[in-house]
Amino acid sequence: MKALHLLEINQPLSYESNLIPIPKPGEALVALHAAALNHRDVYITKGQYAGIKTPVILGSDGAGDHRGQAVVICPSLNWGKHGLHQGDDFQIVGMPGNGTFAGFVAVPKANLHPKPEHLRWEEAAALPLAGLTAWRVLFSRCQLKRGEKVLITGIGGGVALLAMQFALAVGAEVWVTSGTDEKLDQARALGASGSANYRTEGWDKSLKQSAGGFNVIIDSAGGDGFSALPGLCLPGARIGIYGGSAGKITHLSPQILFWKQISLLGSTMGSNAEFRKMLQFVAQHQIHPVIDRVFPLEQGNEALAHLERGDQFGKVVLKIQ
Ligand SMILES: NC(=O)c1ccc[n+]([C@@H]2O[C@H](COP(=O)([O-])OP(=O)(O)OC[C@H]3O[C@@H](n4cnc5c(N)ncnc54)[C@H](OP(=O)(O)O)[C@@H]3O)[C@@H](O)[C@H]2O)c1
Repeated sequence: MKALHLLEINQPLSYESNLIPIPKPGEALVALHAAALNHRDVYITKGQYAGIKTPVILGSDGAGDHRGQAVVICPSLNWGKHGLHQGDDFQIVGMPGNGTFAGFVAVPKANLHPKPEHLRWEEAAALPLAGLTAWRVLFSRCQLKRGEKVLITGIGGGVALLAMQFALAVGAEVWVTSGTDEKLDQARALGASGSANYRTEGWDKSLKQSAGGFNVIIDSAGGDGFSALPGLCLPGARIGIYGGSAGKITHLSPQILFWKQISLLGSTMGSNAEFRKMLQFVAQHQIHPVIDRVFPLEQGNEALAHLERGDQFGKVVLKIQ
């Protein structure tokens, strides 16, 4: 089989032949039809991730066949027994173990789930890591409910866009931010009630004027812009944080947090059980992940560069076979 290998950090992935993996006891071999990229893959290739091990085949998202069954792979390995957090042995498919940018991958049988029938291979591959992360941060952590107002920042991101689709499906009112006006137009066309460009001076004040305030805010940026978020919260709001793309949070006012009784909730991926619930929800609401672009597997480096530039609206997918 062919696979994209990360041989060294800060080097392009190498597209070369590899032996078909031999599953260990308890594992299953999946013949992959499609894989998807996450920002994690960019961070790893650049050496900006903890515990990098090379050589390795990256890729956390995949959909394919196992013994004639169409499956999607839950990318959380060894979540452990606590609902509130992952255990010490937690790992993610695609580093340190080999991932899905390949013809075949071996993963624990327990991580295989039936592919939602309404999804094409590319859509099914786009769902796992982003869908699981969006599910947990919105529903398990922030307890988003029908009729609540939610702000999702950086809507061009893969997780952010699925979070918007899930929140709309549950009957929440969704508002979004982006650094690109065109992405804001696209989000409104998909059902967002309103939007703001976070690169515009005073964006938070005008958003507050038009939206009034939010019960839930979902953020993956952190950085200097985060300190504006508590001001946009209604009393008793929950802020879910699953990423830190813009770096360390600065100038956060403790007073506004405690006076408004705001909950700050960190969230990381999710368990196999949450993955199952997420798939059921996607099937029930016939949700189709938004796909920005599909590249053939051999063009994995172009796909990574595309994601790194941040031009995408939705998931970047690799077609395998
Ligand atoms: N904890 C977890 O389990 C988990 C899981 C998945 C991802 N993550 C993390 O979450 C982040 C996003 O991941 P992803 O795979 O969804 O990435 P992605 O698809 O590459 O999207 C990144 C998005 O971040 C937005 N962004 C960048 N700077 C921003 C800022 N200053 N303010 C607001 N938004 C900003 C951009 O949105 P616009 O283009 O709309 O401006 C961009 O499209 C990464 O840091 C990733 O490591 C964490």
